[in-house]
Amino acid sequence: MDLYEFQAKALFAEHGVVTQDGAVVNTADEAKAAAQKFGSMVVVKAQVKVGGRGKAGGVKLAKNADEAFDKANDILGLDIKGHIVKQVLVTPAEDIASEYYVSFLLDRSNRTFLAMASVEGGVEIEEVAANNPDALAKINIDASVGVTKEVAIKIATAAKFPAEIMDQVVEMLQRMWDVFVKEDATLVEVNPLVQTPAGKVIALDGKVSLDDNAAFRHPNHAALIDHQAEDPLEAAAKAKDLNYVKLDGQVGIIGNGAGLVMSTLDVVAYAGELHGGMRPANFLDIGGGASAQVMADGLSIILSDQDVKAVFVNVFGGITSCDAVANGIVQALALLEADGKKIKVPLVVRLDGNNSVVGREILKTANHPAVRMADTMDAGAELVAQLASGK
Ligand SMILES: Nc1ncnc2c1ncn2[C@@H]1O[C@H](COP(=O)(O)OP(=O)(O)OP(=O)(O)O)[C@@H](O)[C@H]1O
Ligand SMILES: [Mg+2]
Repeated sequence: MDLYEFQAKALFAEHGVVTQDGAVVNTADEAKAAAQKFGSMVVVKAQVKVGGRGKAGGVKLAKNADEAFDKANDILGLDIKGHIVKQVLVTPAEDIASEYYVSFLLDRSNRTFLAMASVEGGVEIEEVAANNPDALAKINIDASVGVTKEVAIKIATAAKFPAEIMDQVVEMLQRMWDVFVKEDATLVEVNPLVQTPAGKVIALDGKVSLDDNAAFRHPNHAALIDHQAEDPLEAAAKAKDLNYVKLDGQVGIIGNGAGLVMSTLDVVAYAGELHGGMRPANFLDIGGGASAQVMADGLSIILSDQDVKAVFVNVFGGITSCDAVANGIVQALALLEADGKKIKVPLVVRLDGNNSVVGREILKTANHPAVRMADTMDAGAELVAQLASGK
């Protein structure tokens, strides 16, 4: 889960990363009141989970409370790369002598943690990396050592931070690493980290991504979820403990095992190319021992997706035998219909592996009008893409 800047800064404050005071508000009136409270020049900042807010007109300086009202008015409701601004952060304006960049992230391709730092902050770091790669220091972090003072010095020295702020930067890096480890983050980024004319170092921005797989260790992270911004289907799936990701195609996909579902997405997208560009509408892995209830929950989510024109159930029986899955599908359809949900789109089912002959027989006997059988994964993908295209 990505956090808003104000949420990231709240975590920073908890772990001793020097940042600023701020007030998150939903209206221009509240922005004015917040600016009055700070009694100084303020910056009004769009709170959206996307980069490049400044360039898009989402970060504005206000000299006084009335100006804060006007700027908040401008920014609230703004569309920044498809994200509508519903709240702004009002924060005291800082005098800035220099802007720097620092981050910790999980570097998946190199199977390590990575620190990145640059004295060319403030701008988009992708630009620095592309145009002036030497200005971006990259240091691998050994997870068993972490960011000790020595490691922090190594990072700050590699990035050529000025000597007079070295101590503050070294401290800052260690506290940011605390956020990274103690909150189970996959990204902790500060851009810009600023140096004031008085020589103080402050995190003016904050970007944090939390590892959802570690959510069970952090009951307090649940409060950070923005339920309004969540995809309603994904939220419903999460409530039922389903491994579901909404995609933008027309073919609903259900499978057992993440690997099988991933390859199902591929074959459906491939087959769809010959059928007007039909694509997968979701990822849904119902896992091993899929009960009728899990199948019903999964089908119910997929069938309530208005984009879905056909569904592909692709199951390879391993520990779960196909007769159990077939019974699950039959019962799931009955459950849904008993619930008043009409099955309006065709369901292509491919069963293979453990007890597949019996499984197919069960579906054949049930003879549900929406269900079509396929012998192979490729044949199923072809059929479902064709059905989804309506031809
Ligand atoms: N409190 C502040 N006081 C003075 N200037 C600020 C303050 N906050 C931000 N700025 C200025 O605005 C610029 C953009 O702010 P910020 O980095 O928070 O947003 P952004 O980089 O445009 O957005 P994103 O980080 O989403 O790409 C900063 O580089 C800094 O120059
Ligand atoms: Mg920034």
